[in-house]
Amino acid sequence: MTNICCIGAGYVGGPTMAMIAAKCPDVRVRVVDMDPEKIARWNSDRLPIYEPGLQETVAEAIGRNLVFDTDIEAGIREADIIFVCVGTPTKTYGEGAGHAADLRYVEAAARTIADVSQGPKIVVEKSTVPVRTAEAIRTILSANAGNGTFDILSNPEFLAEGTAIRDLESPDRILIGGDPATPGGAKAIQALVDVYARWVPRERILTTNLWSSELSKLAANAFLAQRISSINAISALCEKTGADVQEVSRAVGSDSRIGSRFLEASVGFGGSCFQKDILNLVYLCEHFGLPDIATYWRQVIEMNHAQRHRFVQRIVRTLFNTVAGKKIGVLGFAFKKNTDDTRESSAIYVCRDMLLEQAQLSVYDPQVRPEQIRGELLEAGIAPDALDRQLICAASPYEAAAQAHALAVVTEWEEFAALDWEAVYRDMYKPACLFDGRNILDRERMRAIGFEIHSVGKA
Ligand code: NAD
Ligand code: UGA
Repeated sequence: MTNICCIGAGYVGGPTMAMIAAKCPDVRVRVVDMDPEKIARWNSDRLPIYEPGLQETVAEAIGRNLVFDTDIEAGIREADIIFVCVGTPTKTYGEGAGHAADLRYVEAAARTIADVSQGPKIVVEKSTVPVRTAEAIRTILSANAGNGTFDILSNPEFLAEGTAIRDLESPDRILIGGDPATPGGAKAIQALVDVYARWVPRERILTTNLWSSELSKLAANAFLAQRISSINAISALCEKTGADVQEVSRAVGSDSRIGSRFLEASVGFGGSCFQKDILNLVYLCEHFGLPDIATYWRQVIEMNHAQRHRFVQRIVRTLFNTVAGKKIGVLGFAFKKNTDDTRESSAIYVCRDMLLEQAQLSVYDPQVRPEQIRGELLEAGIAPDALDRQLICAASPYEAAAQAHALAVVTEWEEFAALDWEAVYRDMYKPACLFDGRNILDRERMRAIGFEIHSVGKA
């Protein structure tokens, strides 16, 4: 029987390991984390993250071949394959602050693996890391190893939140980077291929060298984010010229060389990875003396900031150049639908800027807790007393809209398109302004009800 241990029970570690356990009943999977509260929730009916289909996948394997616990050392000791799936946020201190990756959690995991391992282990880098991190892991492991020997693989994860289970069940590809020339390298690659091959067609399992694998993950996220920034850049031009960004997106995306996905103009991309991974790429370019290439990729992020800023500016200008003291309803706070994750959500920036304009905000999100909304805005620099005065977390979208001058749709939750919009209109101040940051509302219908609607990329 193969024993797998995954260090890190977060948005990637939890769902990915649940899928491996569900698909491979004869593989024992142990997911460990240093956060006891998170582990307790993985073992309860109230999972620590919201993800459609996750509860069912966990339920299929937990108690059979899937365990969540806090005993990291025991997990490592009994494992043949160890996945490192800890966070790699942007560094906030010292050299490279603001763009380099903070690898302290990866390093801590590697040191623990070195300390407690007995015998051969396959160490799999699943976290998204800068190119050549596998080399650093190898150095830490070999410098500190007692009786352990190690083969290192890179196996980046490509799932998107909100569709994690679907993405894991039927991935476009699985990428495994390794070094087949080393004594155990080819065997290690084969062992990991064998795990995925239980449910992923063999031709979708790609094997490359370690550095291609690490770089491909950063490159894939940069390309995806670049598409969004490209269409968002076009949306600004649409608003000025009378072109409609959804029509442009359809026309451009119909070219089979371009493709239709990831061309939805929005209030800007959010999430824990796009910005951090592009910054990571920018840092690598600077480190390797490639300033022009660093500038090229940085622009994808700059465009994203500009898009968020433009959205707030449009609200303020439309409301007669002031939102001070006016109630604005905000629909959605998560960085996309079908997740409770708010890391780097565009909602944070939109709310922060409107609070700075002295608006009274009433925010509703079906999955995000009020403490989390408050916490994000505190971290974004809004003072606690300003939040006490200016922020309410509403219990329903109707409460968020009542007596509001404007409503801003920031997350594309499907329930927002299906609201009783006549009732919403009745309860709002007039003119009742709608700012659809996700283009999910039917403009003709909203106008017929009486709303003044402003969509992204439409004049
Ligand atoms: P997360 O913050 O949700 O989870 C990381 C977990 O690791 C936390 O629970 C933390 O307590 C734990 N941890 C940190 N150090 C530890 C240690 N030394 N020992 C035990 N536990 C430790 O992060 P995430 O969103 O799951 O992301 C993990 C990695 O996967 C990142 O590198 C990220 O870039 C990458 N990734 C994320 C996504 C996504 O959609 N979130 C998708 C693909 C790749
Ligand atoms: C993204 C990638 O899609 C995953 O492949 C990758 O594994 C992951 O990052 C990661 O490395 O963390 P994720 O951030 O979870 O996944 O979600 P996406 O679906 O990519 O959405 C990111 C942001 O872009 C969201 O705010 C979304 O609303 C926005 N977006 C997406 C748009 O504004 N327009 C689009 O057309 C698509």
